[in-house]
Amino acid sequence: MKVNGEPYRSIWVDDDGRTVVVIDQTRLPHSFDTRKLRTVEEAAHAISAMVVRGAPLIGATAAYGVALALAEDPSDPNLENAIVLLAGTRPTAANLRWALEDLGRRLRPLPAEDRAVAAYRRAAEICDEDVAINRAIGEYGLTLLEQAAEGKEGPLNVLTHCNAGWLATVDWGTALAPLYMAHDKDIPVHVWVDETRPRNQGAALTAWELASHGVPHTVIVDNAGGHLMQQGMVDLCITGTDRTTARGDVCNKIGTYLKALAASDNDVPFYVALPHPTIDWSLADGADTPIEQRDEDEVLTITGRDESGQETRVALTPDGTSAANYAFDVTPARLVTALITDRGVCEASEKGLQTLFPDHAAGAASS
Ligand code: MRU
Repeated sequence: MKVNGEPYRSIWVDDDGRTVVVIDQTRLPHSFDTRKLRTVEEAAHAISAMVVRGAPLIGATAAYGVALALAEDPSDPNLENAIVLLAGTRPTAANLRWALEDLGRRLRPLPAEDRAVAAYRRAAEICDEDVAINRAIGEYGLTLLEQAAEGKEGPLNVLTHCNAGWLATVDWGTALAPLYMAHDKDIPVHVWVDETRPRNQGAALTAWELASHGVPHTVIVDNAGGHLMQQGMVDLCITGTDRTTARGDVCNKIGTYLKALAASDNDVPFYVALPHPTIDWSLADGADTPIEQRDEDEVLTITGRDESGQETRVALTPDGTSAANYAFDVTPARLVTALITDRGVCEASEKGLQTLFPDHAAGAASS
């Protein structure tokens, strides 16, 4: 996507062929900065501190993290240490484990001297594949939006939660890809953007992305969606996901479940867009998904820009208050109208996923 008219991906390799460059998402929306990652430790920190975030981008960054480690030392112990370090950064996004397993499987059999080049090559492929996957999701999702917009007066009102746009992936995004495509085809869309406390990925990142692309949108507090649905002001919801089980249960940013409940109660279609590396074929029941708990400071404080343009962090609660910070929740498959994948749209169920991914069918959801 473009930033100030210039095409960007969310991650790339610098001119030296070694340093990895990312957009520093902790600085958005007020400042567009990039950050150079020179070591596996810096890549791991970028993931855990949410300089980069979003399941697909976490996977891509981890792949480059392995490459950075091997450029320094391609030995067996260093490869294994890098994988362990990166795997421990964030527990929920399936793409992290997927990317590390992929790299480990390909690199272990290679002679040490070939590993760094192979790791950079595979990381670049993962990035290119992610772009193609998201383009496909966008096209399948666009068909749903076109159907929903048919005969409708005024814009199609779509609610989304968190940021599942191009910043959360390598390019295009998952949930936002169909919206960008609809907008580009002059289908009038308007997006209700959940602010997504406590990290405010909606207010900070989704709003920034949509504004940069000229897509009409309105930020709402996280608790507003149910009311808007009761008032007939939401035509459909689309979110992303960090891990989808083989039976179609969907783990996504905290608060997604409540939106799905409200959507179900108000007969509003609730779609989830996902690239296939987000599917955890080893998990059947969403209740078994590891849910990340983050630092309570993310709930107790908030950062914003004051009137002088200075970034400031302020306390929200009385001194000494403690907070719980569950980062994700699970929406059961029965509340999901359909999954929009890179292979097409399917029912959120074991049968639905197996239709599109028969290669994963046998015994996938046995546990
Ligand atoms: O904690 P985050 O910002 O990494 O969470 C991101 C989300 O929950 C996204 O909705 C999800 O990764 C899908 S993005 C394509």
